[in-house]
Amino acid sequence: MDTNNSSSLSGFGAGKVILLGEHSVVYGYPALAGPLSRGVTARGEASNKCQLVIPDALTAEQRKVLKAAFARAMAACGEPGVKVSFDTDLPLSMGLGSSGALSVACSRVLLQAAGRKASASEVAAVAWEMEQEFHGTPSGVDHTTSAMEQLILYRRKPGAEQGRAKVVEALKPVKLVVVMAGARSPTKLTVGALRERQKRWSERYQRIFREIGLLASEGAEAVEEGDLEALGDVMNVNHGLLAALGLSSPGLDDMVHRLRNMGALGAKLTGAGGDGGAVIGLFHDTGPVVHELTRLGIRCFDSQLAGPHAEGTRGAA
Ligand code: MEV
Repeated sequence: MDTNNSSSLSGFGAGKVILLGEHSVVYGYPALAGPLSRGVTARGEASNKCQLVIPDALTAEQRKVLKAAFARAMAACGEPGVKVSFDTDLPLSMGLGSSGALSVACSRVLLQAAGRKASASEVAAVAWEMEQEFHGTPSGVDHTTSAMEQLILYRRKPGAEQGRAKVVEALKPVKLVVVMAGARSPTKLTVGALRERQKRWSERYQRIFREIGLLASEGAEAVEEGDLEALGDVMNVNHGLLAALGLSSPGLDDMVHRLRNMGALGAKLTGAGGDGGAVIGLFHDTGPVVHELTRLGIRCFDSQLAGPHAEGTRGAA
């Protein structure tokens, strides 16, 4: 979503949730992902040079990466005269796509400032420049979901320049509780460590990636058919396979089991996983679950990812 008048520009980048298929998507298999209503809002004001206001709270390393990422997007847009700042209501570094959301928000503002049409595909192309700087070898699912603001089945075949996204129409609302379950290592490190394991034991790891890819496709069918029980089962199996790949932790597993005990149709880690991060649970009714977890002091929120009146689906340009 963008606004554009002569004195100020603004652009929103949605956070994302991967319902199925994280990590295996890096190896060319499909993933099912949708947008959150939370994300990053970037604002632009006219300036004599193209620049990004970097928040003081960032570490020296984070500043360096952010500067390099913005420089790539800036170059892709012809360095328009705009000063970009941003804020976010997304929990950061939890596997909810904060860097993809930031990339999309900045790209929207830069494209507007350059007088170019900020269509979903143009935004995704510029955001891709930033994402590569943030993640090294990203699949592209995060920024594509953020730019399209729809539930998508995403796939980038090995060696392909671009990924492909198919919009998945949900027959019934897909209601999730998203829970923060401990701090985690940066995505780049978790993805890199898995890459080392799969290089060493390629056949075994490829078998699991292939199976997760099948689960993502089956999950997309379940969403289209409104079969939430089938979707929940696929999520549970996907969590088991992510754990088998060494991507879960006691904290993530505990939260998955807690959500299942609270009536989740399915629950799994979402995003890169590792030491901690976010866990999602699929529920018919999320309200009582959020109420109970909040009462226990556990950080969480609910989100309707797809279906009629889905929150994050703003209808991208
Ligand atoms: C991170 O949100 C998702 C991963 O699959 C990495 C990627 O797709 O680039 C872990």
